[in-house]
Amino acid sequence: MKDVIIPNGRPYVILNAAMSLDGKISTCEGGAEYSDELDWKRVHKLRAEVDGILIGIGTILKDDPKLRVKYFEGNPTRIIIDSKCRIPLDAKVINFEREKYPAIIATTEQAPKEKIEALKKLDVEVLICGPGPQVDLDDLMHKLRQKGFKSLMLEGGGTLNFSMFEQNLIDEVRICMAPVIVGGEKAVSLVEGKGFIDLNEAVNLKLMKMEKLGKNIILFYKVVD
Ligand SMILES: NC(=O)c1ccc[n+]([C@@H]2O[C@H](COP(=O)([O-])OP(=O)(O)OC[C@H]3O[C@@H](n4cnc5c(N)ncnc54)[C@H](OP(=O)(O)O)[C@@H]3O)[C@@H](O)[C@H]2O)c1
Repeated sequence: MKDVIIPNGRPYVILNAAMSLDGKISTCEGGAEYSDELDWKRVHKLRAEVDGILIGIGTILKDDPKLRVKYFEGNPTRIIIDSKCRIPLDAKVINFEREKYPAIIATTEQAPKEKIEALKKLDVEVLICGPGPQVDLDDLMHKLRQKGFKSLMLEGGGTLNFSMFEQNLIDEVRICMAPVIVGGEKAVSLVEGKGFIDLNEAVNLKLMKMEKLGKNIILFYKVVD
């Protein structure tokens, strides 16, 4: 990635998501496709530019994405945040074109040893990040930087996005906003978790650019805290 200042001790992180005008990244039934082909090309270009793609196990279990790079050349490592190695061994993210895209499971000491061994047999690297119950994201970022990762794309979902914001691990936010309202208390929002109680603790962003892409608007923000 050009023109970015790599933070001390961790990779540069860009959160990318497609959401409805009311901030939902899925519907109450699960996955939703808010982008269109124009936006997929933008997303795949970004995937091709970064060293790794970070994703929560909730999204893997709900959507079973491949996280491949289409239209461009690039082979980012897929990094799955999964405290107890719940990932199914046949998940596409660790099987699809395995020889092209490396995969890392970031987990904790609470993950079953047999599952870790089974993942290693599939050539998946397993990084133990803290005692649990959740993956220690600071520790993960530090380990990834030591392995040479300079840039990461964070592809959600909402629960992981909140933890990453809470720990000041996000540098940029890029949103594809679709002109649609879905509503629904159970529909996952861009940021979930326990939220910031006080507006003083909230994450501040600066709008750097916006562009119309077909029917959607793409918003580019920098985190300014
Ligand atoms: N429209 C879009 O751009 C877009 C993009 C991505 C996802 N989505 C949608 O988002 C939904 C899934 O979101 P989600 O919030 O349910 O799940 P998620 O954020 O993908 O994954 C959350 C899970 O990650 C694990 N985790 C481990 N360590 C963590 C930590 N330190 N902080 C936070 N999480 C940690 C936890 O499970 P364990 O404790 O078991 O490890 C947690 O439940 C899906 O419906 C998907 O379609 C939409």
